[in-house]
Amino acid sequence: MQIPMVDLKRQYLELKAEIDEAVLKALEAAQFILGPNVQKFEEEAAQYLGVKHAVALANGTEALHLAILACGIGPGDEVITTPFTFIATAEAISYVGAKPVFVDIHPDTFNIDASKIEEYLATHDASKVKAIIPVHLYGQAADMDPIMAIAKKYNLKVIEDCAQSFGGDYKGKMTGGFGEFGCFSFFPSKNLGCYGDGGMVTTNDSELAEKVKMLRNHGSKVRYYHSVIGYNSRLDEIQAAILRVKLKRMDSFNALRNKNAHLYSKSFEGTDVIAPYEDGNSMHVYHQYTIKVRNRERIIEALTKEGIASAIYYPVPLHKQEVYKNDYQGLVLQNTETVSEQVMSLPIFPELTEEEIDRVVSVVKGAI
Ligand SMILES: Cc1ncc(COP(=O)(O)O)c(C=O)c1O
Repeated sequence: MQIPMVDLKRQYLELKAEIDEAVLKALEAAQFILGPNVQKFEEEAAQYLGVKHAVALANGTEALHLAILACGIGPGDEVITTPFTFIATAEAISYVGAKPVFVDIHPDTFNIDASKIEEYLATHDASKVKAIIPVHLYGQAADMDPIMAIAKKYNLKVIEDCAQSFGGDYKGKMTGGFGEFGCFSFFPSKNLGCYGDGGMVTTNDSELAEKVKMLRNHGSKVRYYHSVIGYNSRLDEIQAAILRVKLKRMDSFNALRNKNAHLYSKSFEGTDVIAPYEDGNSMHVYHQYTIKVRNRERIIEALTKEGIASAIYYPVPLHKQEVYKNDYQGLVLQNTETVSEQVMSLPIFPELTEEEIDRVVSVVKGAI
């Protein structure tokens, strides 16, 4: 039996009756753009996350893009972020003509190292820097206390990349409510995923929420009246209907991911596999279960032979990517570079069974 990284079909079959009904109702209501499901989903998501506003968008990349635009960031500005993330985090900075500034990560949590942010600001022209984008990588919150303190000291905006952390918290407060914006992705494999593309920003600032609402809808508040150049970046009604069904299960989905991760970690005790490090600040919602190993290729080969999926998030740090490397020649971010050669992620999803976890573990153990 194959074990995929995430089994979307298994989850759909469990929720089929409810999802089918929600989708059919949305079809029958025929209000496909910015309809009642989008509005209700925004209210329900904001309530779940403990924020004032949620604005549903076409995808997570657009969430970052529109958040950056709404913060007034543009050409000549700098935005500090992590080089160990999906390309979208940096792309969104580049879209507006600003420059991503990559600082190194903590080698255990894989998240941006706040002391490196401070170091950059203390040794460069800090007036160019307008924002920090921490990413809550793999579902564990970045260290938000020092990040917020630095942002306050240097008067910087904070835009959280929550694409992998829906429902995860930092010291009891959910991710997405710390800075000016939280940016979420509902890509199908995410902790909260729809059946296509989807995204959302959260904010506690009503003016910023209004700005993003305009930006997602051609710069328009009133139909056919346009005050700024905007975009077509709306979540569609059918995806919103699906997300409303899944949102009700978020606590249980995340608890099951966490439980499965702990089963893995317990089984790897006493081996050469370095299990994910939990910093104790948050409920890790394990969007990914990512281990550090020395002989990655051999383990991947053994898993593949047994029909077990695995993945490397991310094999190439952003400052080494083809698209950026000329701009960052000579930049050495040692922790990121080392970690990107050691990490690999194993299948993790709420419906993964103990037997499947045992199988994955025994193949990994056999190959280390
Ligand atoms: C950390 C991170 N940021 C941003 C994104 C972009 O989200 P989307 O694929 O919905 O555009 C993703 C996921 O794909 C992600 O993992």
